[in-house]
Amino acid sequence: MNRREALKRMGASLAAIALAGVAPKTYAAILKERSNNKKRLVFYFTATGNSLFIAKSLSDNPISIPQELKKENLSYEADEIGFVFPDYAASAPMIVREFLKKAKFSAPYMFSVITFGNAAVNVCQWWDKFSKENGVTFQYIKSILMVDNYLPVFDMSQQITIDKHTDENLAKIIEDLNAQKTFVETAEMGFFNEEMLSRMQEQHFSMTADRLLELKKDRCIECLTCEKVCPHKNFRLGDNGLEFSGKCEYCLACVHACPEKALTLKSANPQWPGERNPEARYRNPNISLNEIIRSNQQ
Ligand SMILES: Cc1cc2nc3c(=O)[nH]c(=O)nc-3n(C[C@H](O)[C@H](O)[C@H](O)COP(=O)(O)O)c2cc1C
Repeated sequence: MNRREALKRMGASLAAIALAGVAPKTYAAILKERSNNKKRLVFYFTATGNSLFIAKSLSDNPISIPQELKKENLSYEADEIGFVFPDYAASAPMIVREFLKKAKFSAPYMFSVITFGNAAVNVCQWWDKFSKENGVTFQYIKSILMVDNYLPVFDMSQQITIDKHTDENLAKIIEDLNAQKTFVETAEMGFFNEEMLSRMQEQHFSMTADRLLELKKDRCIECLTCEKVCPHKNFRLGDNGLEFSGKCEYCLACVHACPEKALTLKSANPQWPGERNPEARYRNPNISLNEIIRSNQQ
């Protein structure tokens, strides 16, 4: 590596650290570790940017799972391979599961960081079991608390005001990974039990776009932002305006990204009245709409 490349790499690392809000005393250690020429691949899925923010803090060039799935050859070799994705009902998004099953990984150190908004429950143990059943062993699996984008339960205008201490927790994860720590998070089930979780998962992962979404036609300006952020290409313009159908990830990328708030949720659960605040939407403040589009567009 020449001096110019070294400075460029250091600049990118510093920018990532600045974004992560890491305390100054850890700069030296992190820079030292990140300049040790280990090849690290980080794969991510995101709907509202939390997981992309974490992935960008762990790699200069994180790789979008929905984009990668378009390729024929899904074979990866590196010193370190990582996954970053959101927790959906104490399990992984379908698209992440599909990628794990289809791809082949070869790396002496594999890790996963799972972003969640309120209750991670046993998601890390679930992912540990699921990945092992599919022939992949992660040495490190940890969750990180961030803004909860699950609209049926949270009013986003309140949710974004809560300090989730993400920067401190991220700094700890960066240090763990740089030391190639071996660790799988375990957690109490708390309010949940296995039966409740499997019912929630079943509901989530059998969702279709027409069952989940409602369109306020008078608001829709047919900009097709929803189509651009959807990892399953569920939207199109028909003779009568916006149409949507197809197997849905339930990621809520479309609902959160709509600039007119024209997409809302039908009732996700008969006990909940649709969503808490149809006028409040979220995108991680460090991530642009274009980055979500580049991550998910089909
Ligand atoms: C369908 C769905 C289910 C979710 N389930 C959980 C959950 O069980 N526990 C939790 O703490 N957060 C849950 N969340 C919140 C997300 O995991 C969290 O906000 C995540 O950081 C979003 O990541 P993203 O911005 O990369 O899409 C859920 C979100 C969605 C859309």
